[in-house]
Amino acid sequence: MNPKIWFITGISRGLGLGLARAVLARGDVVVGTTRDGSSPGGIDSTRLSVLQLEMTDREQIEQTVAAAHRRHGRLDVVVNNAGYGLLGSIEEAKPQDVDHLFAVNFFAPLGVIQASLPLLRAQRHGHIVNISSIAGFAPAAGAGLYGASKFALDGLSQSLAQEVAPLGLRVTVVEPGAFRTDFLSAHSLRRTPGDIEDYQASSGRSVDGLLSRAGQQLGDPDRAALAIIEAVDADEPPLHLLLGSDALRRARVRLDQFEADLRHWEDVSRRTDFASETGAGSAR
Ligand SMILES: NC(=O)c1ccc[n+]([C@@H]2O[C@H](COP(=O)([O-])OP(=O)(O)OC[C@H]3O[C@@H](n4cnc5c(N)ncnc54)[C@H](OP(=O)(O)O)[C@@H]3O)[C@@H](O)[C@H]2O)c1
Repeated sequence: MNPKIWFITGISRGLGLGLARAVLARGDVVVGTTRDGSSPGGIDSTRLSVLQLEMTDREQIEQTVAAAHRRHGRLDVVVNNAGYGLLGSIEEAKPQDVDHLFAVNFFAPLGVIQASLPLLRAQRHGHIVNISSIAGFAPAAGAGLYGASKFALDGLSQSLAQEVAPLGLRVTVVEPGAFRTDFLSAHSLRRTPGDIEDYQASSGRSVDGLLSRAGQQLGDPDRAALAIIEAVDADEPPLHLLLGSDALRRARVRLDQFEADLRHWEDVSRRTDFASETGAGSAR
């Protein structure tokens, strides 16, 4: 189908802006959202419309998705991009900061998905793209709550993919490594206090390491955009799309550790089935 109609949250800057630009450059149509409804600078296209959306406003999410659909009569690709990071030890995180993080990174994408699904089901086609993070698969110390919000999005996406595949709908979770956007800047990132000395060697060190790479991240947002477009165009799009050699490396380490746990504890895992099911008699 050409041109595709894309709905993308958070196109004011970063990966969302890069994706909007790349999608427009190839002739597709974008309905993007920004917090104040203004168009991001530097884009001059009649194929772009911008709607106002604060991701924590659940009611507004429904209205915005409906308005985006009304504008062109269909939505082909729905991208949950808007999000941010919260860094610091898990113990020190403030409940209100955790609530806000999950509101933006998980409940808002859930709202967008639930608002979109009736429309996509009626079309019998559509692709939901959820921007998670490599922290949603292989989180480091200091990124536990951010990782948890992205794990939640990943878990939901895996189940959703199975629920909607028979209806002709597709789901892709994107897991970027470190990309050179505002993500690590004070404009975007939130931090927990970091006052507890005991965590300096774990989360403190890990967060310092991350922040020291601000402005030098390996990932190019424009290349990320092209990779996402390639996945959306594919006859068989991936359920998971990792972006960046750093993300690949972290995922492989995580998979190896997971596999090692499975192997090492396999006998114990098997022993918990009812004895009558395994034929193991009185084995414990
Ligand atoms: N860059 C990375 O290294 C990296 C790695 C893994 C995953 N990611 C994910 O990629 C996505 C995009 O991040 P980015 O790197 O492009 O960061 P960014 O440059 O900080 O951009 C974040 C975008 O999300 C929007 N946003 C944040 N909170 C919002 C809210 N409450 N309501 C509406 N919009 C909101 C921002 O809007 P405003 O301009 O109004 O704040 C902005 O458009 C996020 O989901 C992030 O978790 C990024």
